Amino acid sequence: MKELLNQLRSEFIERLNAIEDTEDLEELRVKYLGKKGLMTEALKGMGKLSKEERPVIGKLANEISDEMKEALVERKEKFQEALLRERLKREIIDISLEKEDIDLGHDHPLIKTMDELEDLFVSMGFKIIAGPEIESVENNFDLLNSPEDHPSRDMSDTFYIDEKTLLRTHTSPVQIRTMKEYGAPIKMVSAGRTFRFDDVDDTHSPMFHQMEGLVVGENISMADLIGTLEIFIKEFLGADMKTRYRPHYFPFTEPSVEVDVTCHSCHGKGCPACGGTGWSMELLGAGMVHPKVLENCGIDSEKYTGFAFGFGVDRITMVKYGIPNIRLLFENDNRFLEQF
Ligand code: DAH
Repeated sequence: MKELLNQLRSEFIERLNAIEDTEDLEELRVKYLGKKGLMTEALKGMGKLSKEERPVIGKLANEISDEMKEALVERKEKFQEALLRERLKREIIDISLEKEDIDLGHDHPLIKTMDELEDLFVSMGFKIIAGPEIESVENNFDLLNSPEDHPSRDMSDTFYIDEKTLLRTHTSPVQIRTMKEYGAPIKMVSAGRTFRFDDVDDTHSPMFHQMEGLVVGENISMADLIGTLEIFIKEFLGADMKTRYRPHYFPFTEPSVEVDVTCHSCHGKGCPACGGTGWSMELLGAGMVHPKVLENCGIDSEKYTGFAFGFGVDRITMVKYGIPNIRLLFENDNRFLEQF
């Protein structure tokens, strides 16, 4: 019996050492240590042993089983280690390899302009409000007092989604949203994308950007509007900028003005960029909020007045940096973008 057990042990070890694969390990385990394995088989002979021999053989059998189990575990760990080592070798990342230069990006000039302007207006006590690009006809036109037959409402000027919904043609509907939601007093700016059915040329794009401003309160006057615009234009475009206010018509303001600033290319002398006038034309639209618009949004127009302004972010970016063509802002040509 003793010899049989010892023989099983040496056979087992010999086979174990010959094994190359984890699956074969399991097969070996079942063969020797399984319920119907060789060890169990061998111990069936215990019954024939004397009372004295039985515990001795039992102890030996346990020792051999334990030894076999340990050897199996050890072997299995060795396999796993080898596998891991091989995988590490295969998947190695050579950090000494020279990489191709990857350029770090930065904000697009339009984003830079909007961030800068928002910072400027925040420093003057304005809040930043966001509005959706998909807007209701009501907010985009009706509540802004835009006449039913105004040409800007035309299908050929506006991207309609259905009769009641469109891609906003300006940021002015954010005025409506803000007044409806917060009531007076208000001091806000809102910048974002706007859309019009325009063909692309040097100064037009069907998608462009605007920034809107609205101040509503008691005793707000045209002087507040002009004071605010002067600070904003001089801070953003340069202290030597001159401004010119021309009467204009917008349905949502009364009175309304259009604002021109000194031509950035020639500083007012007159050059081809400004058509010899010395002015960058129509930089901005503004005015005193029409009482009807205040009332449309539930604000008492007897108690409160307000001013509003809106301008093209693309346009003002072009003026500031002397960019001759709006396409440059959307073509993503690195030779252009790198310069900012
Ligand atoms: N929404 C006008 C446009 O897109 C710009 C504008 C003019 C905005 C006058 C205003 C304003 O807030 O008071 O042409």
